[in-house]
Amino acid sequence: MYSEKVMDHFMNPRNVGEIENADGVGQVGNPRCGDIMKMYLKINNNIIEDVKFKTFGCGSAIATSSMATEMIIGKTIEEALDLTNKEVANALDGLPPIKMHCSVLAEQAVKSAIYDYAKKNNLYFEGLKDFNPDEEEDHHHDHDEEY
Ligand code: FES
Repeated sequence: MYSEKVMDHFMNPRNVGEIENADGVGQVGNPRCGDIMKMYLKINNNIIEDVKFKTFGCGSAIATSSMATEMIIGKTIEEALDLTNKEVANALDGLPPIKMHCSVLAEQAVKSAIYDYAKKNNLYFEGLKDFNPDEEEDHHHDHDEEY
């Protein structure tokens, strides 16, 4: 049911923890299951230098967040905002359709942490224009795959 990559990132998640004095911190919850994801970013010159995450979530949420952190380290903020949960799931060689909603948590946590950074620094990013930090509904993501 789960790919080897999913199992690997679940058993040995990368970048778990916290960043002290992070430049951006985001927390999101998954309305489907109540799971929670917290993400910390270290940003320098528009580049994401470090990412850490903590989650109170299922194996798929852990695996997708682990993969997402690896995919955004060293990238620009704009590139990180472009990352979709589908790309993260693809990088893991796929997730079972019923677990796709878990990958939304990773994408939203990245956006939420960047949102926090943007707010603190009075910055505007095009990639955040549809992001609502108070909304826990993953309305526009893969609806037909989620059930
Ligand atoms: Fe909650 Fe996977 S079941 S994030």
